[in-house]
Amino acid sequence: MKIIGIGSAMPSLAVTNEMLSVFLDTNDEWISSRTGIKQRRIISKDSLKELAAQASLQAIEDAGLTPKDIDFILCSNTVNNFVVPAFSCIIQGEIEAACPCMDLNVACSGFMYALFIADSLIETGKAKNILVLCAEEASRIVNWNERDTCVLFGDGTAAVVLTEGDSFKSHHLSAHSKVEPLYYQRKLEYNPFMKNADGDAPLVMKGKDVFKLAVSSSMSDIKTVLTKANLQIDDIDFFLLHQANMRIIEAIRDNLKQPVEKFPHNIEKYGNTSSASIPILLDELYREGKLEKGNKVVFSAFGAGFTSGAAILEWTK
Ligand code: COA
Repeated sequence: MKIIGIGSAMPSLAVTNEMLSVFLDTNDEWISSRTGIKQRRIISKDSLKELAAQASLQAIEDAGLTPKDIDFILCSNTVNNFVVPAFSCIIQGEIEAACPCMDLNVACSGFMYALFIADSLIETGKAKNILVLCAEEASRIVNWNERDTCVLFGDGTAAVVLTEGDSFKSHHLSAHSKVEPLYYQRKLEYNPFMKNADGDAPLVMKGKDVFKLAVSSSMSDIKTVLTKANLQIDDIDFFLLHQANMRIIEAIRDNLKQPVEKFPHNIEKYGNTSSASIPILLDELYREGKLEKGNKVVFSAFGAGFTSGAAILEWTK
């Protein structure tokens, strides 16, 4: 499998740390020093649907294809205001594609899982051109009165088009059921036959636990994909890590003993955009001309579940 097209679309509203301190007991110094985040984009006048369609069309055009050439759409999405139909079906209609599509929700690891499924479909000849879309609106699951969580997240969308090739060198996924450290529970309709009604809880997070799980899972995944690809750590040109917290990125970097330049980041501009964070960063690097043919790139993401995944690819575009 190889990447032949990339696109991203971000909400127009940039919400700075100072803007949050107007209604929350927080400040730029706390947020910047604990997370590296200076601002995040939040959906206001735009909609997730419009942004997701825009990112998808950009990726398809970049691939030199039309929506009719796409024969499978995989959409990583944690939340949107439709439970049914799948968000991928809504986007399929928006971009006028005509292919099977499905959503997957693996929280922030969704891009890694979607790549894995895409690779399996391409390898078995079941699909030729696959659109992987990551469309995330975390701003709708955080409690905006809760300074521990709402300052961390942002909204955003990004997409890649994949086709047959030998760019991906190895993948690794993992999941360990651990709900407590990070979850969002929504209330469902009343069922007269149930003894206990569901509760609801906007995003609940044990920050320090998530931090430790993130560093250990990413370290372990990166070592596994290096071994599977028969590569050494020094062979890697870029590590594109899930943009959750700058201190998590630094901890992984220090553990891997690799130079700062190998860890591009944009968390300062966008916060944690869940599964969209790695493809948004990839799109940015690509458009800035920072990726060269032959570069070896590691992707590594982690998220609620607790799930994680990594992959190594050789940049061929
Ligand atoms: N502004 C000001 N103070 C805040 C704050 C904010 N936005 N959020 C929390 N605090 C306060 C807390 O109330 C607490 O105060 P107390 O000590 O009086 O009880 C204190 O800051 C906690 O600070 P600290 O222990 O230094 O926090 P931390 O170093 O654990 O950092 C996180 C907190 C959330 C930034 C960090 O744990 C983290 O990033 N974890 C991973 C989160 C993540 O990546 N989630 C998504 C994964 S996909």
